Amino acid sequence: MKHCLIIFTFILFTFYSLKSSGQWYDDPVNHSCLKCHAFQTYSFHNDLMDKEEKRLMNPFFIQDTVALKKGVHKQFDCTDCHSYEYETYPHSANLKLEPMATCLDCHGGDETFAPYQFEKIDEEVKKSIHYQVYGENFTCSKCHSQHTYTTTARNSNDVLEIVNYSNQICLSCHNDMRKYMLISGHENPKLVEIHNWLPNQELHFQHVRCIECHTEVVDGLMVSHNIQGKDKAVRKCAECHTSDSRLKSSLYKYQNLQVRSEGGVLNTIFSNDSYIIGMQESPFLKLASIIIFIATLGGIVIHLTFRIIKKK
Ligand code: HEC
Ligand code: HEC
Ligand code: HEC
Ligand code: HEC
Ligand code: HEC
Ligand code: HEC
Ligand code: HEC
Repeated sequence: MKHCLIIFTFILFTFYSLKSSGQWYDDPVNHSCLKCHAFQTYSFHNDLMDKEEKRLMNPFFIQDTVALKKGVHKQFDCTDCHSYEYETYPHSANLKLEPMATCLDCHGGDETFAPYQFEKIDEEVKKSIHYQVYGENFTCSKCHSQHTYTTTARNSNDVLEIVNYSNQICLSCHNDMRKYMLISGHENPKLVEIHNWLPNQELHFQHVRCIECHTEVVDGLMVSHNIQGKDKAVRKCAECHTSDSRLKSSLYKYQNLQVRSEGGVLNTIFSNDSYIIGMQESPFLKLASIIIFIATLGGIVIHLTFRIIKKK
């Protein structure tokens, strides 16, 4: 009995610490997927030939375990979003037809997530050039991987990190011929050439987000999502290089950065890199981890009870 208690406490502790630290790879459920989906090669048992086989994994199906751990959905098991049928390999062909949940399916009309204004974002996306041209084919997932998305603009204190994270979203497609062609069917125009008129292009792309010039700034929305056609893009230097820069109502509207923008002129904002605000803690995350803790506890108690009964 004593042993049982020690083992019980140990299992409980490891489970909880794995869950709360979001260790995907060590998580037993995800492990069964990631033993294949985190590597360039995978092995499986060929039942027909009755032997072990080793094959190459499609590089687009390889998941980045480090990025998974940082993502907002790190607490999820793969099969919370994907069918349980994926647990067998070869995967059933029908699974390719499986509809996937969209951001709005889970976050729409949910009080917990109200600060993000998912519905408003959805409205803005529907006005954007991407949606106008490609409709439902241009899902939120084209820009936000459900696996790895992090709310950088809201939570980071580092302007360069925010800019880089945001711009990588656009560049991952606009600078990648395959991804661009997948959606458009034609080659991507060269960004460097298009933005030739902008001096110090590299410096600008490190310090301003693409969306600064390509979206309409919307009051009350943290990240503007209405990406407009190129004819509406900002070209005037003075829109940013003045004391009431448009950057103040977009990039610098974040609470985490606001104190900096009170300096007024762009230069003071950018040179004042030493200012650091503490990260906010999400009360929801805390609640979620407590719920998961209790659920895990329940699971283990049930499991142990059955084992003990069986033994008897
Ligand atoms: C034995 C290795 C292996 C395991 C284990 C495995 N997969 Fe896969 N998975 C693959 C391979 C290989 C492909 C690509 C081609 C295919 O469907 O066979 C794939 C494809 C996929 C796809 C993409 C389907 C498509 O065509 O778009 C998804 C989604 C997926 N797997 C999810 C999962 C999930 C979730 C799990 C765990 C429950 C899992 N897989 C476990 C090897 C594996
Ligand atoms: C929060 C929901 C969610 C979770 C959790 C999740 N997936 Fe996915 N997954 C998706 C969605 C949505 C897509 C389709 C993406 C798209 O439309 O481009 C997808 C696509 C995939 C694909 C196809 C290729 C790709 O990356 O687009 C693979 C492979 C895959 N998931 C594996 C996994 C594995 C392995 C796990 C667990 C580590 C996992 N997924 C966890 C939502 C999820
Ligand atoms: C299958 C349901 C589901 C889907 C699909 C989904 N989410 Fe989530 N998402 C959740 C849940 C549940 C949480 C809370 C997880 C937690 O706190 O551990 C969450 C957390 C988040 C958070 C962090 C909220 C916070 O305050 O901590 C953001 C931001 C987010 N999701 C954005 C998205 C975006 C963007 C998409 C689409 C690309 C998406 N989600 C798709 C269920 C989902
Ligand atoms: C064209 C690309 C693109 C599309 C499409 C897109 N987003 Fe975004 N979204 C972004 C960028 C860039 C950010 C800023 C990234 C960050 O959070 O740091 C962002 C940020 C967000 C945030 C965080 C805002 C905050 O207040 O912290 C949420 C939530 C979000 N998007 C939801 C969605 C939803 C829901 C959809 C689909 C209806 C969607 N996005 C479609 C590019 C896009
Ligand atoms: C998944 C791929 C993909 C992503 C991600 C993406 N785009 Fe696009 N974008 C396209 C395609 C394809 C077009 C061409 C639309 C057309 O044919 O008119 C386009 C068009 C545009 C245009 C309009 C050009 C014109 O002809 O008027 C702008 C501006 C733009 N994108 C900016 C962005 C920004 C900013 C982001 C990031 C927030 C982004 N895109 C993310 C694929 C993408
Ligand atoms: C300083 C403002 C500014 C920034 C920053 C900026 N753009 Fe632009 N962009 C413009 C202007 C202005 C045009 C219109 C150019 C023209 O029509 O000659 C344009 C044109 C475009 C086009 C249209 C291409 C075409 O001709 O079909 C795309 C796509 C685009 N930008 C994407 C991006 C992406 C992605 C980023 C971030 C890496 C970005 N832009 C950053 C101002 C900017
Ligand atoms: C969307 C806002 C925006 C627009 C539009 C814009 N800039 Fe900038 N520019 C910036 C930011 C932010 C920096 C980086 C400031 C820093 O780090 O000191 C910058 C840096 C520069 C620098 C380098 C300054 C230095 O200290 O090295 C020059 C030169 C410059 N911009 C000229 C221009 C010109 C000319 C135009 C119009 C053709 C223009 N910019 C349009 C935001 C913008």
